[in-house]
Amino acid sequence: MALIAFSLLLLLSVKSGFSAGEKVLPDGPLDVLLGKDLTINLLRPTGKDDIITWNYKGSTSIGTVRPGAVTITDQYKGRASINVTDGSLTLKSIKSEDSGDYNVVIIGLTTTIPAEVKIRVLEPVSDVMIKSDLPEAIEYNSTVVLTCTSKGSILSFTWTNDSKSIPSDDKRFTVQSSVIKLTITGVQRYDLVGPIVCTAANPLQKESSAKFNLTTYYGPEAVTIKASSQGKYVPSNSDFNLTCSASSKPAATFTWFHNAEQIEASGPVLTLKVIEEKGFGHTMGNYRCVAKNDKTQRKVPSTNVEFSVMVSETISKSLNHRNSILIAGNSSANLTCQAVRGNVTDRVWLKDGKPLSPDSHVKFSSDSTSIYIDVLKKEDNGDYYTCEASNEVTGKSTKSLPLSVTVKVKLKKIDEGLSDGAIAGIVIGCLVAVGAAIALFFYCRGKIPVSSPY
Ligand SMILES: *[C@@H]1O[C@H](CO)[C@@H](O)[C@H](O)[C@H]1NC(C)=O
Ligand SMILES: *[C@@H]1O[C@H](CO)[C@@H](O)[C@H](O)[C@H]1NC(C)=O
Ligand SMILES: *[C@@H]1O[C@H](CO)[C@@H](O)[C@H](O)[C@H]1NC(C)=O
Ligand SMILES: *[C@@H]1O[C@H](CO)[C@@H](O)[C@H](O)[C@H]1NC(C)=O
Ligand SMILES: *[C@@H]1O[C@H](CO)[C@@H](O)[C@H](O)[C@H]1NC(C)=O
Ligand SMILES: *[C@@H]1O[C@H](CO)[C@@H](O)[C@H](O)[C@H]1NC(C)=O
Ligand SMILES: *[C@@H]1O[C@H](CO)[C@@H](O)[C@H](O)[C@H]1NC(C)=O
Ligand SMILES: *[C@@H]1O[C@H](CO)[C@@H](O)[C@H](O)[C@H]1NC(C)=O
Repeated sequence: MALIAFSLLLLLSVKSGFSAGEKVLPDGPLDVLLGKDLTINLLRPTGKDDIITWNYKGSTSIGTVRPGAVTITDQYKGRASINVTDGSLTLKSIKSEDSGDYNVVIIGLTTTIPAEVKIRVLEPVSDVMIKSDLPEAIEYNSTVVLTCTSKGSILSFTWTNDSKSIPSDDKRFTVQSSVIKLTITGVQRYDLVGPIVCTAANPLQKESSAKFNLTTYYGPEAVTIKASSQGKYVPSNSDFNLTCSASSKPAATFTWFHNAEQIEASGPVLTLKVIEEKGFGHTMGNYRCVAKNDKTQRKVPSTNVEFSVMVSETISKSLNHRNSILIAGNSSANLTCQAVRGNVTDRVWLKDGKPLSPDSHVKFSSDSTSIYIDVLKKEDNGDYYTCEASNEVTGKSTKSLPLSVTVKVKLKKIDEGLSDGAIAGIVIGCLVAVGAAIALFFYCRGKIPVSSPY
């Protein structure tokens, strides 16, 4: 019925303060927040004698202004008002059902002008939240999908990373249609440190989510091993460590290897004490650590550190000859050359400056540490029994030079007149400390007695 009336009005051409074609209502849609008041203003002043009628959806009459009087229909009483002076319509405490097209018809003296505008009732934006499909991510492996959820009438979402908007690069970052989802493929460690914020908005309102970040595990990388001192020889029982480090989240755990064999030890520091306790270090060997990240399940080895532990021994001054008086044709002698510190790499036995080689009565131990002369002959008299031990010894901080040690042992003929060729003497052997070689050399020299019991 009202629609028909409206249509009829369109056909009539009654004069008014407006001229046809003039804009009466603003362009829509006009947005209004749920619960707020809405006023729709006419863009032109009305004439004194104009009749202004407001309708909802073309069929429901809201009210009419006749010169000097306003009528509001029962349905809109108390909720709607029309300003007598300018013809504007005000609706109080707007509801969602108030969304829709509103039209006005102005009947003037000469014209009838209809106009229409769309009203959108927006629900307030609230509860904006970022959700991740993963609780935590693994660098390079994980694809993370962040979803922004919210309540209310939302027309757009935006994502920011540390306050800067996140562009879609269509490679690793994809911002999906209507921007609800942010997908990051092959996530990297700094991608989700953020803070990442999602903002949901409509034309009247916007609200941001809480700051979001996601732990991304990575590594181990840059696995480095450091020895507390440089050099290929490490003195036994010294304060020496191997330390491993790696860039990793969570912190890497470390296992240790000697050549291919695992050492029963963990932690970033491997002490010499443990190395020796576990029975390693006797020979030149390679040590390395393997860093492991329990989250990424990645294992990365360090480079190798090569060294040998120098075993220290106490000096033994006893020699295995049976008597201190050596008698030709009856006595035997055992001379020993051992390093107190370090690995003796070479031993040369000299007699009177000339290399001594084994024969039927001079026997060398398999490792040349000792020689055994049985039975002593008069010809065995001479300057010995020289033991040359050379070794590369590396001090704690300085690299020392290869060292040669010479121990002179003298067999002294006691009585050259003895027809049986008996000789007597005391053979003193010295166990040679490489580190104190010179001192020992003189010590040994000083101790060589020349006894003449007859
Ligand atoms: C009606 O409109 C006039 C002109 O715009 C304004 O001055 C007046 O305050 C309005 N009256 C009411 C009740 O809002
Ligand atoms: C956030 O910013 C950091 C630093 O610029 C960047 O490394 C990261 O990739 C960014 N993340 C996203 C999702 O844009
Ligand atoms: C990530 O968020 C947590 C709380 O959710 C916060 O404690 C932490 O500091 C944040 N990390 C960064 C790097 O912003
Ligand atoms: C070796 O490690 C032990 C135990 O961590 C520490 O007390 C010592 O100071 C370290 N020594 C060196 C030379 O780094
Ligand atoms: C000494 O060095 C040699 C040759 O490298 C090696 O065979 C031997 O096992 C080492 N001995 C010790 C005690 O380190
Ligand atoms: C990461 O990806 C690699 C290669 O695709 C795979 O071998 C590995 O198991 C993955 N790591 C985790 C923790 O899923
Ligand atoms: C030779 O040694 C044996 C046993 O050690 C001894 O019985 C013998 O008297 C010695 N001979 C001489 C001439 O000293
Ligand atoms: C000589 O002395 C060494 C070192 O003490 C010992 O190992 C070796 O058995 C001795 N040889 C003889 C034949 O007594």
